[in-house]
Amino acid sequence: MSVTMEKIVSLCKRRGFVFQSSEIYGKLNACYDYGPLGVELKKNVKDAWWRSMVYEHENIVGLDAAILMHPRVWEASGHVAGFTDPLVDCRQCKMRFREDEIDPQKWEKRQCPNCGNKGSLTEPRQFNLMFKTHMGPVEEDAAIVYLRPETAQGIYVNYKNVMDSSRQKVPFGIAQIGKAFRNEITPGNFIFRTREFEQMEMQFFIHPSHDEEVFEYWKEKRFSWYDSIGIRKEKRRFHQHGEGELAHYAKKAFDIQYEYPIGWKELEGIHNRTDYDLSRHQEYSGKDLSYFDDTSRERFIPYIIETSAGVDRTVLTCLVDAYEEQQLEKDTRIVMHLNPILAPCKAAVFPLVNRDGMPEIAHRITDDLKKHFSVFYDDSGAVGRRYRRQDEAGTPFCITVDSQTLQDDTVTIRDRDSMQQDRVPMQGLAAILNDRIWQ
Ligand code: GAP
Repeated sequence: MSVTMEKIVSLCKRRGFVFQSSEIYGKLNACYDYGPLGVELKKNVKDAWWRSMVYEHENIVGLDAAILMHPRVWEASGHVAGFTDPLVDCRQCKMRFREDEIDPQKWEKRQCPNCGNKGSLTEPRQFNLMFKTHMGPVEEDAAIVYLRPETAQGIYVNYKNVMDSSRQKVPFGIAQIGKAFRNEITPGNFIFRTREFEQMEMQFFIHPSHDEEVFEYWKEKRFSWYDSIGIRKEKRRFHQHGEGELAHYAKKAFDIQYEYPIGWKELEGIHNRTDYDLSRHQEYSGKDLSYFDDTSRERFIPYIIETSAGVDRTVLTCLVDAYEEQQLEKDTRIVMHLNPILAPCKAAVFPLVNRDGMPEIAHRITDDLKKHFSVFYDDSGAVGRRYRRQDEAGTPFCITVDSQTLQDDTVTIRDRDSMQQDRVPMQGLAAILNDRIWQ
């Protein structure tokens, strides 16, 4: 049984991964809230990314820039003039589309993809995707600020601050995780394309002559990161941007795509942004953003290789990739094969029955394991039902305290994927689980 977006949406709501924003008011379109399991999964995705980008590279450091920036930033970056999508309306059914997403044969006849009427589509109008707001009490043009549509610009305008304070030299990188906002014309497919989302971006500053080799390095590095969080290789591929697809700042770009239930779509982008951004900020701010290399005695504007991944899209990818409906002998089970390092809850602890001192022992185990990772205690319902609930939550290990525990201080560990149980001493349980989670 294959995974569909509907199944993912339903599981997310049922188990508390993701909810529609402002649901009791009839929802706010294309905005989502992360529930108790979702917030843990999202945090684990961000931690895994941060570990691999910042902690594992001596020449990459972190930054957390403000969402609101000086409005000139967005003029310099080209977003005020060029961050637009071609918007098309249907005069009949009033639906809106992006012209570049309409089947070319339909577009030739100006045929609406929704109601099918020919000649009913308007000519495209350019629609800027940035959200505008006002800073301070007066709503005048001078006070306009934008909600950032990408986190990257916060890195560019801070590149000298970061370099000078952390004593980095080119080549070096700055990593950042943070919210971005886009007034998308056609949001949808759950958390795939939303109007408020998070990005994990890293900007690598290099000598212009090294752009090809550094680009290749990051392209491969980012592709293999998805192996480390357990995303199936056969569901991933590269897509190179053709002439018409390249963003206004990019000389070369590759997407890492994933095969979602809605087809092959972009998960992450790797871009060669050349010296476009720093040159533009130098021009608009009047500040010197060049770099002087003491060894070669050369002055230049660094080129930037960018890796840009969506947190929400990575979470969706993990959910889709992990989902399985398994036909068992007597019933089916839904199991989320999330990589243990990403699993919202690492272990669940059950007393087999609520008597004979088993709940007390299970509570003691829970309290001990809590010091190491997220754990869940559950004593309600038949143990089989408890296992099933944890399977849907993606919990990799379930610990059961049973009558044998009372005799020899051992417990069972049930593995989510194989459903096999083995018996281990209660002493040292945290170390055993840590090994299995981080193996
Ligand atoms: N700084 C470069 C940049 O922002 P992008 O290709 O526009 O490049 C990078 O976005 C990544 O951000 C995408 O690959 C996707 O994962 C995520 N992303 C972009 N727009 C999004 C949206 N509306 N909703 C969710 N994620 C989005």
